[in-house]
Amino acid sequence: MARLDPHSYADDTQVETASLALVARVDFTSHTLHADATLTFRAPGGGRLDLDTRDLAIARVVDQAGRELPFVVHPPEPHLGARLAIELPAATAAVRITYTTSPDASALQWLAPAQTRGGAHPYLFSQCQAIHARSVLPLQDTPRLRIRYTAALTVPRALTVVMAAAHRGRTETGELATETWEMPQPIAPYLFAFAVGELASRELSPRCRVWAEPAQVEAAAYEFADVEAMITAAEALFGPYDWERFDILTMPPSFPYGGMENPRLTFLTPTVIAGDRSLVSVVAHELAHSWTGNLVTNANAEHFWLNEGFTMYAERRITEALEGADMASLSAALGRRELDESIARFADRPEMTKLRTHLAGVDPDECYSLIPYEKGYFFLAAIEAHVGRAAFSAWLRTYLDAFRFQAITTEDFKAHIERGLPGALAAVDAPRWLDGVGIPAGVAAPRSSRLAALEALGATVPAREVAAAWSATEWSLYLENIPRPATEALCRELDAQHGLTASTNYDVLVAWLALALSAGLHDVLPRVEVVLGAVGRMKYLRPLYTALAADPRTRPLAHSSYARHRPAYHPIARSMVEGVLRTAP
Ligand code: BES
Ligand code: ZN
Repeated sequence: MARLDPHSYADDTQVETASLALVARVDFTSHTLHADATLTFRAPGGGRLDLDTRDLAIARVVDQAGRELPFVVHPPEPHLGARLAIELPAATAAVRITYTTSPDASALQWLAPAQTRGGAHPYLFSQCQAIHARSVLPLQDTPRLRIRYTAALTVPRALTVVMAAAHRGRTETGELATETWEMPQPIAPYLFAFAVGELASRELSPRCRVWAEPAQVEAAAYEFADVEAMITAAEALFGPYDWERFDILTMPPSFPYGGMENPRLTFLTPTVIAGDRSLVSVVAHELAHSWTGNLVTNANAEHFWLNEGFTMYAERRITEALEGADMASLSAALGRRELDESIARFADRPEMTKLRTHLAGVDPDECYSLIPYEKGYFFLAAIEAHVGRAAFSAWLRTYLDAFRFQAITTEDFKAHIERGLPGALAAVDAPRWLDGVGIPAGVAAPRSSRLAALEALGATVPAREVAAAWSATEWSLYLENIPRPATEALCRELDAQHGLTASTNYDVLVAWLALALSAGLHDVLPRVEVVLGAVGRMKYLRPLYTALAADPRTRPLAHSSYARHRPAYHPIARSMVEGVLRTAP
């Protein structure tokens, strides 16, 4: 027997699930799903089947003929959840499992009407990456095993269901509606996704539609209007888009991530709606995952850099194609700052700064950082610099082709690139990147004229005419480049000249607020409090809570703000903030 994924009970000597049929009633009163999940195997088989579950109440398991099968739900193990062991008679083709989810299912956030824009209806959304799908349905929850699925979700009639799948229909009976969906392309289980709420949509192009609560749908349609141009640019770089549609769901503010690349339906934080399309690189990122991550998938979380490092590279190629090389190198320069900061944050766990990690017994959410993203990006950029843009781009196409709809490890990547670009790995000293801690010395810094202009400013206040032409990335980078703690005088001057506290661009605003807090500028505290109550995106919560907790004068505020806003935060964000507050000096 072999368990090939440290985060799953899936065993490669057992039958493999090929497809899944989910029938579920969404109960907004008890915050549970009452469901039947049918798992059909690639080939009929017998013996034991171990499935991943978390907090599921399993009522019954039957085979394809409706015969009861014996099962045991083992005691939960930390991070993994509970193993559901089913005894299959020889030649079992499928199992049907009847169960109920827990109100605390780790993949689900249930929002009360008051937590939505409209205020009239409840809302539910899922976030399965990395290992939360098992809290929604029993399955072999490893990206190594791809599944196709169908789903029929029954919800209150006033609500709409959206899924990262193809819509097949809606029927209404009495107070209820049932929507059916089908995912024709095989996906890794962490890409199973849906949301239920009062939703409206706008067409952006024949293959793109944006969904949001009715009050936000116009703003979302404006912000993402250029998405078709993005897909076209990405196809020119990486080959045809294989998922038919690229729809976008604008999430409630508590969505803990910037975006989630759910296939056919990317989930995006509403904080990217800045009103001026300045934060759409998040869309480029999630779109890029359609190739790097969703087509070519990491076999497990120990090879997560294959998903995110390649996606940062692909995102910056899209940015370069649409906005020019200057903008792409500004993004890379910001990435380099974030990499240095993340590596510093993991000073006491240096093994987490390797690209290829060892995660037995480690919760993937808890070791989440930008290291696999940005170290992965700089590793690939180093290879590209060595072999040249043309050769690297050509190799990338062969890589995407060779592994499409597969799950791979770092070893598979190494073998493939060694064949296509012989000697390149040795030339960049790949073992230091993959298995070494920190970032190798002598990594080329991103360059561009706009970057040089920014760096020349250092910590002096830019003139209004100069800053007027800055992108959000330039503002973020300028603010990040100012050494901490900043002086109060500099911060006052910056705010007086540039009105940063009033910024409505969250990337700029949060970079500014963190800087101002480092300077002890308490005038910004009311604005910080507003942000902490308005958004649940971890990218913003982490630096703000970290800055508040770092100063003994504001530490009590960190705790009281968190106590106030905790109910609105997503469980994943709660754990992150609690970690920050626990480790504060
Ligand atoms: N797939 C990730 C989000 C994720 C990673 C969720 C791991 C759960 C576990 C997504 O593609 C992502 O990277 N989002 C970033 C966007 C950014 C790098 C542009 C984010 O949320 O900040
Ligand atoms: Zn990503």
